[in-house]
Amino acid sequence: MKRDDSEKGGKEGHPSAADRFVAWFRGSSPYIHAHRGRTFVIVFAGEAVADPRLPELIHDIALLHGLGIRLVLVYGARPQIEERLRLRSADMRYINGLRVTDGAALACVKDAAGGVRVELEALLSMGLANSPMAGARIRVASGNLVAARPLGVVDGVDYGHTGRVRRVDAEAMRALLGAGAIVLVPPLGYSPTGEVFNLSATETGAFVAITLNADKLIYLMERTLPLNREGEAYTNLLPAEIDSLLRMVTDEELRGYLSHAADACRSGVQRVHLLDRRSDGVLLRELFTRDGSGTLITAKPYEDTRAARLDDVGGILELLEPLESLGILVRRSRELLETEINRFTVIERDGMIIGCAALYDYPADGMAELACVAVHPEYRSHGRGDMLLHDMERRALALGVGELFVLTTQTAHWFRERGFEPSPVESLPMQRRQLYNYQRNSKVFSKRLVPLPRPEGR
Ligand SMILES: CC(C)(COP(=O)(O)OP(=O)(O)OC[C@H]1O[C@@H](n2cnc3c(N)ncnc32)[C@H](O)[C@@H]1OP(=O)(O)O)[C@@H](O)C(=O)NCCC(=O)NCCS
Repeated sequence: MKRDDSEKGGKEGHPSAADRFVAWFRGSSPYIHAHRGRTFVIVFAGEAVADPRLPELIHDIALLHGLGIRLVLVYGARPQIEERLRLRSADMRYINGLRVTDGAALACVKDAAGGVRVELEALLSMGLANSPMAGARIRVASGNLVAARPLGVVDGVDYGHTGRVRRVDAEAMRALLGAGAIVLVPPLGYSPTGEVFNLSATETGAFVAITLNADKLIYLMERTLPLNREGEAYTNLLPAEIDSLLRMVTDEELRGYLSHAADACRSGVQRVHLLDRRSDGVLLRELFTRDGSGTLITAKPYEDTRAARLDDVGGILELLEPLESLGILVRRSRELLETEINRFTVIERDGMIIGCAALYDYPADGMAELACVAVHPEYRSHGRGDMLLHDMERRALALGVGELFVLTTQTAHWFRERGFEPSPVESLPMQRRQLYNYQRNSKVFSKRLVPLPRPEGR
C-alpha cells in the first residue's frame, strides 16, 4: 500500500503524523498503567443503544477491556420500553418524576431489557478481521446480580413493578470480573418473592459502584454537562458543591445523575465522571488525556496544576512573601510578577494558590533557570514539589531546552536528590552570570533533561 508522505519523517521543526502518533501514544502510557486492573462501572442509557454509532462506543469499551480494566456495564432501556408500549397503544406513566410500572409495562420492560442485552452481547462478541474488535474475544456475563424491592405506594400512588435496588451480589460480580468477563447489568432486579422490578440504571450504577468499591463510576449522559453561571461546563465538582447545585437544578434527569454521583462519592467511589455520550470518543478522551472531557466528581478537594494567570499574582505573592523574608527566595515585586506571569506554573487548591514555580529560558544557550519553587508549608511533603519540578521539566523540554539549572541557598539537597549536580557559576549563561549576586552566594545546580512520562491524570 502506498503511504502518504506526511506519515514519514516530517520536515525539520514540523512533526510528521507518525511522530505525532508516537508522541500521543507515549503520552497515554501513564494512564494505561494507572487504569490496568481497576474496576470501572459504566452507565449508559437506552438512547446510546438506539444510536447508529453504538458500535463505536462498544469498540471503545472493548479497548478498555483489552487494556486490563475490569468493566461493569449498566444499561438503560427507556426508548426501547416506550417503543414497545406504543406498539401496544399504552404509555409509561410518570408521577412525581417516578415511573409507574403496571403489568403491561413490566412485560415491555422485560422484553426491552432482554432485547438490549442480546444486542450488546452480539456487538461485544464481534471479532471480524480488519475491524477494531479483531482478536478481542470478550466474555460477557449477566444474571441475577441485583436484588430489588418494590418502591411501593407513595402519597397514595402504587408504583407497581417500579423498584429500588436492595442488594448487589458483589461476590459474584468480582468472580466474573476476575475470570476476565465484562459484566452486563440490566435495569431489572429480582426479589426473593420471585418478582421482577424495573430499576433506574442511574441508581443501579451507583449502587453497583458503591458495593463493588469501584475505582470509577462513569455516567454516559444523553445531555450536556452541568453548566456554571458563565455557561461553561464544570470540570470538577465536590459532593458539597453538588448539594448547592441541586438547589438550583430543576431538570429531573440531571438531578438524578448529580445526586447519585454525590452519593457514590460520599460512599467511597473515588472518582465519578459525568460525560456527554453524544460526543464521539468521549470515554477515551476522558480516561487517556490530562484534561479529560467531562465533569469529574471527587470526594477530596480538587487540586489543579496549571499555567499561572494574571489573577494569580496576589496568591503567588502571598505564598512567596514569607520565603523572601527568610532569605530563601529573592524578592520579586508585584509589577515584576505581573510581567513574568507567563513563566509561572501554579498549584491551585479550592481557589487558593498553594504552590508555584517559574522557568526562565536562555534559548541561545539551550538552558533554562528553574526559579521560585515553593509549596505552602501546610501542604509540603506530599510530592507537590516533585510535581512542580516535573511540570517545569516538561515545559523546558517543549521549549527545546536540554539543561535546567537552579540557584539555591538552602534547598541544595532537595535538588540533588532529584538529579541536579553542583555546577560552577561560570557554567551559567552569560546573561545570567552578569546578574549573579556574589553576596548571596547561591549554589548552582544543573540537570540534563531527558523526556519523562506524565503524572497520572483523571
Ligand atoms: C522545596 C519544596 C518546594 C518542596 O516541596 P514539597 O511539596 O514538600 O516537596 P516533595 O513532597 O516533593 O518533597 C518533600 C521532601 O523534600 C524534603 N525537603 C524539603 N525541603 C528540603 C530542603 N530544604 N532540603 C532538603 N530536603 C528538603 C522533605 O524533607 C521531604 O523529604 P521526605 O519525604 O524524605 O521527608 C518546599 O519545601 C518549599 O517550598 N520550600 C521552601 C522554598 C524553597 O526552598 N524553594 C527552593 C528555592 S531554590
